[in-house]
Amino acid sequence: MKILITGSKGMLATQVIADLERGYTELGEVPAALKGAQLVLADVDTLDITDKAAAEGFIAQHKPDIVINCAAYTNVDGCESNQDTAFMVNAIGSRNLAIACENTGAKLVHVSTDYVFRGDEPTPRREYDMPWPISAYGKTKYAGEEFVRQYCKKSFIVRTAWLYGYNGKNFVKTMVWLAKEKGGAKVVNDQHGNPTNAADLSHHLLKIAASEEYGTYHCTGNGECTWYEFAAEIARLAGYEGVMSPCTSEEFPTPTKRPAYSSLDNMMLRVTVGDEMRHWKDALKAYFDNQK
Ligand SMILES: NC(=O)c1ccc[n+]([C@@H]2O[C@H](COP(=O)([O-])OP(=O)(O)OC[C@H]3O[C@@H](n4cnc5c(N)ncnc54)[C@H](OP(=O)(O)O)[C@@H]3O)[C@@H](O)[C@H]2O)c1
Repeated sequence: MKILITGSKGMLATQVIADLERGYTELGEVPAALKGAQLVLADVDTLDITDKAAAEGFIAQHKPDIVINCAAYTNVDGCESNQDTAFMVNAIGSRNLAIACENTGAKLVHVSTDYVFRGDEPTPRREYDMPWPISAYGKTKYAGEEFVRQYCKKSFIVRTAWLYGYNGKNFVKTMVWLAKEKGGAKVVNDQHGNPTNAADLSHHLLKIAASEEYGTYHCTGNGECTWYEFAAEIARLAGYEGVMSPCTSEEFPTPTKRPAYSSLDNMMLRVTVGDEMRHWKDALKAYFDNQK
């Protein structure tokens, strides 16, 4: 068994790599079929996924059984101001991997986002709900999903949200820093979603990868909250309870319009490989406990 991980230096990829190397995740064993797999790691310096010939050549040369695509242009505001680059990485890059996987028969596990939805309906979105992205990040990620569906039969598209992990910059680390160094912050209280620990996502990506349950998945922490509620819980766990205060999106304008309600329902997980995603508060507590 050989597994190629693209975007291998990123936050999610480093978690998946650590789990595969250990043979277990925070939630349990790595599936037997994937245990001891030979890993091929590639980031933009060794495989720029926007280069079609390079992607096809790399995959033809290494012949992985599974490709886990963690590469993306993830800076939401950056995507808004660099839309051609966002499209090249998030859409064309995904297309290139899909074509290369189809050519060699590899399975493709492709990671996507809650931002494919417009976020103005008050119930968690399911996999059969129609996407309607409102930002360049969401639009280019959705275009990437469509290419993967179109070009690779043995593909899994896994949408996640509000991701944080042990490696790399993320919201949890930023909030801890603001609590400690700035005495707190104002955080928007009118955008709802599902904080997701990269360790939980990694566990499910590997379960999905070992299966033949092809299709589109939602994979986010269970339960939902606002960014403010998430920040308040982060501050509490870090020992700075009460330092965060709520504000509206209008008070905190950003270059990109973000969905007001982007909770996802993990329906496809429930009906296939099983939804073991922790409640977001439990997963967040584990994140703090594991760093002590
Ligand atoms: N972070 C979140 O909150 C969140 C939420 C929902 C969904 N997701 C999705 O989850 C996946 C993983 O996200 P993440 O937070 O782990 O991302 P990340 O930390 O930004 O990692 C992405 C990796 O891809 C690399 N990359 C960029 N352009 C590339 C290219 N042309 N070819 C090859 N590699 C390239 C990046 O390198 P550089 O750093 O050098 O650019 C980086 O190492 C992505 O598909 C993302 O859209 C993330």
